[in-house]
Amino acid sequence: MSTQSSASDSEIIAARDRVELLRAEILRHNHLYHTLDAPEISDAEYDTLFDQLRRLEADFPELASADSPTQTVGAAPGRTFAVIEHRQRMLSLGNAFNAEELIAWQQRASDLLDREQWTYVTEPKIDGLAIALVYERGRLVQAATRGDGRAGEDVTANLRKIDAVPNELSGSPPARFEVRGEVYMPKAGFEAMNAEIAEQNQRRREAGRSQLTLYANPRNAAAGSVRQKDAGVTATRPLSIGIYQLGWCDDAITPDNHWETLGWLSEFGFPTTPEAARHEGIEAALDACERWTQRRDSQPFEMDGVVVKVDDLGLQADLGIVGREPRWAIAWKFPPQEASTVLERILVNVGRTGSINPYARLRPVRVGGVQVTNATLHNLDDIRRKDIREGDTVVIRRAGEVIPQVVRPVLERRPEDSVEWEMPTVCPGTTCGEALCSNQHCGGERGVKDVCEGAWCGAGVSRKDEDADFYCDNHRCPAIVQRAIEHFASRGAMDIRGLGEKMIRLMLREGVIGDAADIYTIPGRLEELARVPGLGQVKRRKGEDHFEVGDRLRNLAAAIERSKSRGLASVLVGLGIRHVGGENASLLADQFGSLDAILLAPAETLAAVDGVGPIIAESIVEWALDGESWSLVHRLQAAGVEDESERTEVEPIDTPLEGLRFVLTGRFAAMTRPEAEAQLKSLGAGVGSSVSKNTSVLFAGEAAGSKRRKAESLDLPIWDEDQLVQVLARPRLAIDWLRDASALEPDAPI
Ligand code: IVH
Repeated sequence: MSTQSSASDSEIIAARDRVELLRAEILRHNHLYHTLDAPEISDAEYDTLFDQLRRLEADFPELASADSPTQTVGAAPGRTFAVIEHRQRMLSLGNAFNAEELIAWQQRASDLLDREQWTYVTEPKIDGLAIALVYERGRLVQAATRGDGRAGEDVTANLRKIDAVPNELSGSPPARFEVRGEVYMPKAGFEAMNAEIAEQNQRRREAGRSQLTLYANPRNAAAGSVRQKDAGVTATRPLSIGIYQLGWCDDAITPDNHWETLGWLSEFGFPTTPEAARHEGIEAALDACERWTQRRDSQPFEMDGVVVKVDDLGLQADLGIVGREPRWAIAWKFPPQEASTVLERILVNVGRTGSINPYARLRPVRVGGVQVTNATLHNLDDIRRKDIREGDTVVIRRAGEVIPQVVRPVLERRPEDSVEWEMPTVCPGTTCGEALCSNQHCGGERGVKDVCEGAWCGAGVSRKDEDADFYCDNHRCPAIVQRAIEHFASRGAMDIRGLGEKMIRLMLREGVIGDAADIYTIPGRLEELARVPGLGQVKRRKGEDHFEVGDRLRNLAAAIERSKSRGLASVLVGLGIRHVGGENASLLADQFGSLDAILLAPAETLAAVDGVGPIIAESIVEWALDGESWSLVHRLQAAGVEDESERTEVEPIDTPLEGLRFVLTGRFAAMTRPEAEAQLKSLGAGVGSSVSKNTSVLFAGEAAGSKRRKAESLDLPIWDEDQLVQVLARPRLAIDWLRDASALEPDAPI
């Protein structure tokens, strides 16, 4: 056994000082505990001192001494998951699920301290696990989980392995203090780690070995990774930390508000919670919470809410604690994004490119405030990887605007007779959508909807090399045709309002159109089309049905005419050539000036355009080699669709909402706020972010807060989501409603 360390003299001197201090301190506590029966520190703190001493003595054998308390008292406490008592309790937070609850929280504080002026700090509420870190002379000496708030687990060894947790502080930190924060696993790291585990499982399954557990979410992954018995495993996990609080602090002058405390802590090298913000008054804090609710998915980590804290630490102390929760902070909670339900069937639909895409038909369930019945399943590989079967209870997740995902099955609840799902061997593409169809894979399957009138593809399906998807072999597959027309008419392409999925399905079924070019025959056939069920307007006169063109067809015809002058880039997008999207279509349009020039260019010339590249170029050339493509192009050209990039005089656009100024607040179920705002703007309206007397109308969605109250105080019209949807469909309604309102109040401004 060596009795000398390889440390330098100065290190040994520093260590000796520390060792002597620790020994004296431990002996004093021994005396307090055993002789006076009046301990000053908890057992866990004692154990920590003891452990430090033991480790120093191990590192510096030259400092060993028979007098040391390590030699006279029994064995050192176990190092893994020993219990650590917190010097100050670690609290949890009360919740506010809406504006009223947040305001009520501030009102209680106001009443208690008879005070109106409040400054708040908002911080993301990171979904991970709470950790208390103790630093001594700038070094991490202890890390503990929250546990029951009074005592947690000693995870010091594990936390030392997390890069984001500073082992050594910079600057001049206090001699001894504690910080608190949330250890979390960033979303990207979580996905990568789970994908890795899934891959291992695939191999293990093949080898007949037991499966490793996939983590259900980043929070569980973070907690599981910190609580590893082997700190070496923790080291391999992609963990991070956000420090959100100064715990206790010995002998130092600390800032007197939370905001400055965060800045002060970051000077020592702590990664404090990102995007913290300070606000005057609860309305401003509420606004921040509402903005966060809209962009909860914008951060690289999972958030389950926003923490609102009273900034002034003196006021925090005055407010104190009730039960396990402080009165000075509250969690603004987002609606949950995960739920479990039964996956009733796995169905497939056929995409625009002919890809056969499996999706889950679910027993309806509410997630993130929205009723969900379908969720995407990506492809066969993904279904196998996650081991998802029909009849499983599954966890589904809806993140922001993204289509719900099936996260995993709950294996304990799998029915005994369940079998692996197989990809259909023939293309299930139909145009029915509302069908009792002979095709069992049809999206309008038996028992969900009643009558099938759609065409069924039934061609073979095959897998291209390297591609995870299966594709239909039939170019004229009815589902592909439907999707192609939907894409042509969509907002990113020709933007033909009134020509959505249902209308296209009806027109295909009734033989009104067969492809995108046929759309341009519609304006010339209105009288004839008025007789097609579902298109015209039926009036009963003298006992007989009369078919009239009606607003719907007339508006559609006008939208079709308008679409002719959307310009070359839109037409190019509308053709649905693989990989050709808005951005590269504009680049090509600018460069080549006409559709013919683009479609006739050699691949190298196309690929030479900055931002285009060989994959897009090849895809265009391949598309142009197909005779059917040219027939479509020629018919579009013959119909008068503008296919050159020198834009002719832009037709005056219909702007019925010109002169009106709207503000939107809260959550809308049918669309996102930016979508609604963009549509209102395209109709000529102004859209503002704050309510003033110049605001014409406030559209208030769910959980509307301060803006709503402001609008109420200004006596402005407040309309709900239903009205928003109606105004977007028939903008002139807005003018009518405002007129009606001002008819009652002659002085009301419009
Ligand atoms: S402050 C007095 N700030 O949320 C309470 N907590 O539900 C101190 N959390 O145990 C907590 N991010 O684990 C605070 N920016 C943040 C937070 C945060 C996540 C967690 C923390 C706490 C739990 C309370």
